[in-house]
Amino acid sequence: MNAQAQAVNLSSDDLLTGAEWNAAQVRELFRLATDVKAHPDRYKTALSGRHLAMIFEKPSLRTRVTFEVGITSLGGSAVYLDHAETHLGDRESIPDVGRCLSRWVHGIVARVFSQQGLETLAAHATVPVINALSDVYHPCQTLCDFFTLEEKFGSARGLKFAYVGDGNNVCHSLLVAGARVGAHVRVATPVGYEPDAEIVAAARRDAAATEGSIELFRSPEEAVSGAQAVYTDVWASMGQESETDARAKIFAPYQVNAKLMSQAAPDALFLHCLPAHRGSEVTDEVMESPRSIVFDEAENRLHVQKAILLTLLS
Ligand code: CP
Ligand code: NVA
Repeated sequence: MNAQAQAVNLSSDDLLTGAEWNAAQVRELFRLATDVKAHPDRYKTALSGRHLAMIFEKPSLRTRVTFEVGITSLGGSAVYLDHAETHLGDRESIPDVGRCLSRWVHGIVARVFSQQGLETLAAHATVPVINALSDVYHPCQTLCDFFTLEEKFGSARGLKFAYVGDGNNVCHSLLVAGARVGAHVRVATPVGYEPDAEIVAAARRDAAATEGSIELFRSPEEAVSGAQAVYTDVWASMGQESETDARAKIFAPYQVNAKLMSQAAPDALFLHCLPAHRGSEVTDEVMESPRSIVFDEAENRLHVQKAILLTLLS
């Protein structure tokens, strides 16, 4: 185990679900990210000579650029492997990919179709594996989201947070991270699109320890009522494109628009992991309103992921 991981007493060198890090370790990550953001020059050789493999089975703007710029600005380097080069388990077995990459690089960032495949990769790699989005989780995103909310509100502990839309990978990771920072997380989804019951149950157990809470709703208005932060994501995630039209009808009542935002607290902020489909899950008006902090979230992907790299690769 590396020095930084030991310093925060991590039980795993991987970041696959976000549940590897407890509330205290998330707090330590945020402290480091705050310092990295305020004093980037202090860290410009911190990962000198360290190399990262970046496997992307799906497209990306934010995650790819922030990890690549992040490792470079820490003195290391990245090798990008796109879908054509590395479809996990296609050209060669996932265990063999993990074993080979571990001989050349110091960490693997992977955006994959299958969480199970990612876990197989991590089981066979001897270097840290970081989930850059899977079908089940997007932990780097939501650690950045709650870091951003802590910047805005001082603390996310006790924060009334509402997620409206699909109970997808981002929603799951908001539950994992929200429980760790002690937020009151409310989720509103249509029937059949609820977040995974086991992830909800685990988040409820974790939230009990941080005095946060997790509640599921059918009505977006009820979930958003009095919320200080309102979050949504696309209705059809990458890989679900064929369901786009059917989902558009089902999710229409879940659009985050000015009317829905008017149910939230008067100073409520709007968040979205991006990319956004304006006119679908969110209106242009909300995206462009002074309440929208979507580009602060995007910026913080860089700072928080640098802190993740420092924690796992030092
Ligand atoms: N939010 C996010 O992960 O963006 P990308 O898909 O562009 O990486
Ligand atoms: N839920 C979305 C998030 C994109 C960052 C997807 O998986 O496509």
